[in-house]
Amino acid sequence: MISKKNVSLKNYTSFGINQKVKNFYLIKNIDDINKSLKSIPENQKRIILGGGSNILFTKDFQGSILYNNILGKKIIKENEKFVYVEFGAGENWDNIVDYCVNNEWYGIENLSLIPGSVGAAPIQNIGAYGTEIKHFIHEVKGVNLSNGRFEIFNKKSCNFSYRNSIFKSKLRNIFFITHVTIKLYRNKKLNFEYKEVNDFFKNKDLTKITLKELRNAIIKIRKSKLPSPKTLGNAGSFFKNPLLKSKEFHLLQKLYPEISSYKTSENHKISAAWLIEKCGWKGYKKNNVGVYKKHALVLVNHGCKSGKEIFKLSEKIKKSVKDKFNITLEREVNIY
Ligand code: EPU
Repeated sequence: MISKKNVSLKNYTSFGINQKVKNFYLIKNIDDINKSLKSIPENQKRIILGGGSNILFTKDFQGSILYNNILGKKIIKENEKFVYVEFGAGENWDNIVDYCVNNEWYGIENLSLIPGSVGAAPIQNIGAYGTEIKHFIHEVKGVNLSNGRFEIFNKKSCNFSYRNSIFKSKLRNIFFITHVTIKLYRNKKLNFEYKEVNDFFKNKDLTKITLKELRNAIIKIRKSKLPSPKTLGNAGSFFKNPLLKSKEFHLLQKLYPEISSYKTSENHKISAAWLIEKCGWKGYKKNNVGVYKKHALVLVNHGCKSGKEIFKLSEKIKKSVKDKFNITLEREVNIY
C-alpha cells in the first residue's frame, strides 16, 4: 500500500481545486484496505474517493482519504440473453462503457461519458438520457470498514432511488466498494425514450441505429451541453431535480405553465436547471465561480483557491429558488 502526506486534491477531483488532504492512501486491492485500516487512528475522519466527480472540498481535509484504484474486468457468467461482467471499482466509468459497447453488450450506452469511477456509479445511482445504473447492477462487493468484513449486496439490498443508494446514505464512507458486477443484454435493445435522444435521430429509422451510433450520439449531446472537467472544473449537476407531489406541482404549473417537468410513477420531477435559469443565474460569472452558460445546473470553477467560494454560490442559488418558487433544492454533490 502506498500512503502519502499533505496531498493536493487538484488532480483527484473534477472541480480541480487545490485543497489538501492530510493522509492519502492509494488502494489497489483488498489487502491495501486492511493495511490502511490498521494505520488510520480509529477516531480520525476518512473519506473513500473514486473519480472525485461528485465531491466538493470547502477546506483542507484533516483526515484520511482512501483512493480507490482497484482495477480489472472479468466475465463471471453468461447465458443466451445476458452477460455478467465484474469490474474493479477504480476503473474509469466511461472506459468500461466503451469496453461494453465494443463487445456488443447492451444497456449502459446512454450513460456514456459520465465522469467518475465504476465504484461511484451505484453509490449515487448515476443516471442520464432515460436510464439509471440500477437497472443493470447485479452485485456490489466490498469491505465494511467498521468491521473489516467482505460483504456482497444484491441489487435489491442496494436500496436504489433517484441519485441515491444505501452506499450514499447509511453506509456512506463505511462501505468500500471493491467490485461492481453489471448485467448486460447480449441482444439488441436500445433506449431512445429521452426527448433529446429521440430528436437527435429525427427522420432516421430507429431499428437501424447501432449500439455504437447511439453511444456516439449520447457523447455529442453531452458535449454540447455539459463542460468537460478537463477544461473547466465542475461536478456535473450540482443539485438534484426536485420531486413534487401532484398537488404542489399543479399549483406551480398554474403560475408557470411553461415549467419543465417529467411525470414519474409517484411524483412530478421538475427541472432544477429551469428553476435556476428563471432566477437569472444561467451564465453568471463573478470572481472565480460561475454557472455554466449552456446549463444552469452546473456550477463551474474559474480558478477558486477554495471550494468555499463554490459552496457560497450554491447557497445563494438555493436561497433565490426558495424565495421565488418556495422549493428547497437538494445538493447532489457531496460537500466536505
Ligand atoms: N433546462 C433549462 N435550463 C438549462 C438546462 C435545462 O431550463 O440551463 C431544462 C430544459 O427544459 C431541458 C430540461 O431542463 O429540457 C432537462 O435538461 P437536461 O436534459 O439537461 O437534464 P437535467 O434534468 O438538467 C439530468 C441529470 C444529468 C443528466 C441529464 C441527461 C440530474 C440532477 N441531472 O439533468 O446528470 O446528464 O439529466 O439525462 O438528474 C449529473 O447528475 O451530474 C448529470 C449531469
